[in-house]
Amino acid sequence: MTDREFFQRSLRLIEASRAHEKYREKECINLIASEGLKSPAAMEMLHLCRDLEARYCEGENDLEGHVKERHYQGQRFITQIENLTADLVKDIFRCSWVEIRPLSGTQANQVTFFGLSSLTNNSKMAAVPLSAGAHISHDYTGLAGQVVGLEIINMTYDHEELNIAVDESVRIIKAARPGIVTLGGSLFQFPPPMEELAEAAREVGAFVVYDAAHVLGLIAGGQFQQPLKEGADFVTGSTHKTFPGPQGGLVFADLREPRQRDAAREIQHAVFPLSTSNTHPGRFPALAIAALELKLYGDQLAKQTVRNAQTAGECLFENGLKVLGEKHGFTQSHQIAVDVQEYGGGARVAKNLEKANIIINKNLLPYDSQSDRARPSGIRLGFQEVTRRGFRESDVKHLCSLILDVVKGRRDPRLVRKEVMELRQSFQGIRYGFKSLEEVENRLRKKLGLV
Ligand SMILES: Cc1ncc(COP(=O)(O)O)c(C=O)c1O
Repeated sequence: MTDREFFQRSLRLIEASRAHEKYREKECINLIASEGLKSPAAMEMLHLCRDLEARYCEGENDLEGHVKERHYQGQRFITQIENLTADLVKDIFRCSWVEIRPLSGTQANQVTFFGLSSLTNNSKMAAVPLSAGAHISHDYTGLAGQVVGLEIINMTYDHEELNIAVDESVRIIKAARPGIVTLGGSLFQFPPPMEELAEAAREVGAFVVYDAAHVLGLIAGGQFQQPLKEGADFVTGSTHKTFPGPQGGLVFADLREPRQRDAAREIQHAVFPLSTSNTHPGRFPALAIAALELKLYGDQLAKQTVRNAQTAGECLFENGLKVLGEKHGFTQSHQIAVDVQEYGGGARVAKNLEKANIIINKNLLPYDSQSDRARPSGIRLGFQEVTRRGFRESDVKHLCSLILDVVKGRRDPRLVRKEVMELRQSFQGIRYGFKSLEEVENRLRKKLGLV
């Protein structure tokens, strides 16, 4: 590359970054189920933490999720920030231990799978098949198999019920005797039958990991499922999907038994020194703001998110689309899945909707073959972002009418785009969160009786 080309690329990069912000933030309606929306207060906090974003805080943590020892100087406030963030996160999940240092949900899975398999000295893990909604990090073709070196035993999935086939899977767990049973997934409309599976796991000495990446904010809001109460040993997750924080990962647990405490130590060791040096502490305060927002508004946000997803399921179904899970009300989470094979398949439909500025993703459906990943029969739609922007049932129905126009080929997507942009622009600001840090501080002072 010549210097001139280098500088041209640099300029283009700045322009593309500006253009992206305008396009996805202001002009599109985003229904990607794995993305979330931070409040202006959380964003202000990220911006405030410019120095923190440049710092290191390597070291060991204790079994409350607090800082135990740090190997750098200058930690006076960083330690307070990490401890306070851990406390707020523990409170909203009602647990005794949290690990907020993983940089992503995938890393949260990595440290958990690695830590637990080291402790049990058992390299077998039971998980749901990829096509039935597991994340690639649970699979032998992804992190669990190729990085952590686990042998993956697939539990059985019931395509009709859109859930784990419990009797069959209990038999598989008992026969295979894995060290880990992982539940949760990326296509995740219904809570798995935790109690039976956890009982079988306990019988063979396996730890139950619940990957709540998608539903973390719903769990915080008291919806979907309460995995710790229902038998999970460790919950992993992303902090940026239904949990409306900065991009990151976490693991949490209620350390009631000695073996859970040993396991938590192994997981901490897998975080540092084994897989991170810099834990990107600049995100912690914004994570804490998101936790505060969930503490105050999490139940309303979670309920409305699920209601919006169910409304979309009903509306698309009543208008002729094959929405999965009809007999169970389509979903109990933020997402729905639709079989669009008769409209050209998931890839085609997702591209057409993109032309209308409705951003969704194509998705394998439980009965698709794993080899169909590039041409799956379905699409997945998530309603957490639009809910935070203030969409209610009638707005979701309006949006569904635009989706139907495109999917059914009734109108040119480019003509639909204008209405999508108008709909997007009719929702300014966000709900269930704070507009600014000043608003947060005023609210807290009032709650504390300081004004
Ligand atoms: C179930 C599940 N686990 C883990 C992850 C990975 O999370 P992250 O993207 O934060 O690495 C995802 C991503 O969407 C997911 O769906």
